[in-house]
Amino acid sequence: MFKFKKLMAVAAACALSVAAFTGCGGDQQATSGSGAASGEKILRVGCSADFAPFEFQDETQKEFQGFDMDLIRAIGKEMGREVEIKDMGFDGLIPALQAKNIDAIISGMTINEERQKNVNFSDPYYEAGLTMIVRDNEEAIKKFQDLKGKKVAVQIGTTSAEEVKKIEGVEIKELNTPADCFMELKANGVDAVVNDKPVNEYYITKSGATGVKELTEKLTAENYGIAMSKDNADLQKEINAALKKLKDNGEYQKIYDKWFGGAKK
Ligand code: ARG
Repeated sequence: MFKFKKLMAVAAACALSVAAFTGCGGDQQATSGSGAASGEKILRVGCSADFAPFEFQDETQKEFQGFDMDLIRAIGKEMGREVEIKDMGFDGLIPALQAKNIDAIISGMTINEERQKNVNFSDPYYEAGLTMIVRDNEEAIKKFQDLKGKKVAVQIGTTSAEEVKKIEGVEIKELNTPADCFMELKANGVDAVVNDKPVNEYYITKSGATGVKELTEKLTAENYGIAMSKDNADLQKEINAALKKLKDNGEYQKIYDKWFGGAKK
């Protein structure tokens, strides 16, 4: 409810600023890109901060933390634009982009054809895929096909939800966050959680999870991209150029090493 109110407030503010803009007599309304429309250099980036180590909140720190957060701030710096992070539910991100409440999304979002109908993506910046988490004592589920007849939790609006729906005979529970899914697993409400591999790994190894294990089979290979509005091709070019620069000058690798401890690029 609170989020909804906030969204409405943002929408109202946007409408107001557009009104003010046209009121000034300029017929620059056609100028595309919300950066231009808002008349400032702030890059408004949406994420669903429930996805450590990509985007999450750490009580000890004011700023949002994670690989995506460091990467988008570095990209903003390259572009000479201040980055403002807006946290919202994962399934609300693309609608917020389409409503021009944000300029871009960075949220461990997989590039896929379905989404490409509605948004532009940057070049891929991270390769992931899906794995499963089950309870420690689980014997019946060893691979994805074993999910038939089982209850599975996934985050709503994700590729996990899409993929699990393809497995016949699964009872799927779509919850708001991966944390909700893990809780449901521990409470015996479901038999497995399907979610992005690096997030599952972080949950198992870094957040002190007990009583659960990750299975090694990987269901898909997916690439993450930064999403932008279809009518903002300039922004897509700028973001790709900045991303390339960060890959070439070693900055991307530094951020990668900070969150994933070295190894591959
Ligand atoms: N990679 C998956 C997808 O694109 C899950 C992303 C979830 N991201 C998040 N911040 N909760 O659907």
